[in-house]
Amino acid sequence: MGLFTRKPLDLLLAEAADNEKGLKRTLSGGALIALGIGAIIGAGLFVQTAAAAAQSAGPSVTIGFILAAIGCALAGLCYAELSSSIPISGSAYTYTYATQGELLAWIIGWDLVLEYAVGAATVGIAWSEYLNNLLVEVLHMKPIAYQWCHSPFQVSPDGVRGIMNIPALGIVTLISLLLIKGVHESALVNNLIVIVKVTIVVLIIVLGWGYINSSYHVPYIPPPSKYVDHEGVSHNFGGILGILGAAGTVFFAFIGFDAVSTAAQETKNPKKAMPVGIMGSLLVCTVLYILFAHVLTGLVPLEFFRDPNKGGEASVVAAIRAGMPAGYSWLSKSVTVAILAGFSSVILVMLLGQSRVFYSMSRDGLLPAVFSKVHPKFKTPYLGNLVILILVGAFAAFIPGSVVGHMTSIGTLFAFILVCAAVIILRKSAPDLPRQFRTPLVPLVPILGIIACALMIFGLGWENWLRLIVWLLLGFIIYFGYSRRRSKLNNLK
Ligand code: ALA
Repeated sequence: MGLFTRKPLDLLLAEAADNEKGLKRTLSGGALIALGIGAIIGAGLFVQTAAAAAQSAGPSVTIGFILAAIGCALAGLCYAELSSSIPISGSAYTYTYATQGELLAWIIGWDLVLEYAVGAATVGIAWSEYLNNLLVEVLHMKPIAYQWCHSPFQVSPDGVRGIMNIPALGIVTLISLLLIKGVHESALVNNLIVIVKVTIVVLIIVLGWGYINSSYHVPYIPPPSKYVDHEGVSHNFGGILGILGAAGTVFFAFIGFDAVSTAAQETKNPKKAMPVGIMGSLLVCTVLYILFAHVLTGLVPLEFFRDPNKGGEASVVAAIRAGMPAGYSWLSKSVTVAILAGFSSVILVMLLGQSRVFYSMSRDGLLPAVFSKVHPKFKTPYLGNLVILILVGAFAAFIPGSVVGHMTSIGTLFAFILVCAAVIILRKSAPDLPRQFRTPLVPLVPILGIIACALMIFGLGWENWLRLIVWLLLGFIIYFGYSRRRSKLNNLK
């Protein structure tokens, strides 16, 4: 009993009215695009592009970007409808509670931990790679010893085993503390970071274009084969499977556009601005990503990205140094600094998203009250932030970046599938609900969205399916062992 209890929409909307009284409708479509780009461009582009080229698709990683963008656009149209009809500044968790019942809402809330918390850990690990680059290339200091910036599952080419990733742990700790103090990124800082990030990407495209060696792009789609990396992991390389694998990997680079949908209540004329914000930020990023990937795979041969001594880490900077004349060292240095700032803002958005989801789940009784306890002075859910810090810190310190990156992608893809399904269900169960924005061509668009996301999940391979299943099983244990009995909605009955 109670597994499929839905949170009544009127209750949700009443809560929304209560919680969000203070929010003003100030954001326009353009501001939403900036918000989206701020959350989107990060480790996916600057780390995963090279990894996807090396392990899965070679130059055809660009086609992987196109596929990932199509999946995101379809899911984005569904997000826009839900966020304009259930305008509570929550997330896919809130939508699912209203449309598909408590068990599925729990599953998606638990799954969103992969997107936000594990995603923050992934970007933290990428931050650590570029920090070493800053120390050596920009500040001419010694790098941090391998064992102190890698997980115990990683071994250097000289046989040194990692112990823990201290810089990754450090940056997530620092940003968690900022969040506890209530330092939200201001619109001005966000806009500055967006300008810096976009400028750097454009500079790399424009200046790097002249140094593309077209022989590195032949064959554009490599023939299917197996590639075993230096850690002994086997990957499907080339052909369709390679492109699907690359799409699943670089999908990470688009994560964050859904952050736009959470600002529905602060948006002027959301009916127009919401699709402009979601689609606009996706479009800008997709164009930049494809051009960037084309340049990156043209600067150095594929083997470069496969060699852990060269392009394995901080791969973009390494490729600029190897593929462009020495006169461009200012570019690789600026990239390093810009990336460190850009990654920090992505981590902040993700940790903030995570604490919001846990806050809502705790208010609903599905998680302990500690997650919604608000600090008397700072007015932030500080205990929740601390628990999240322990979780994210453990992932950042002890798990390799590629593993957490793939876990983030598969978790988010699964969440997108549920969001697409929610649109179809809500059209049937609440046809008269006022919708400020309507997804076009329902059910075709949501169904295509589900197919595109399922294809990328397929491309991520069985190790990642297994990780998702284990994660969900863990979630079931907590739900049936704790949350179901404590759920406020169930106890109303
Ligand atoms: N899209 C974000 C990134 O690439 C998560 O870092």
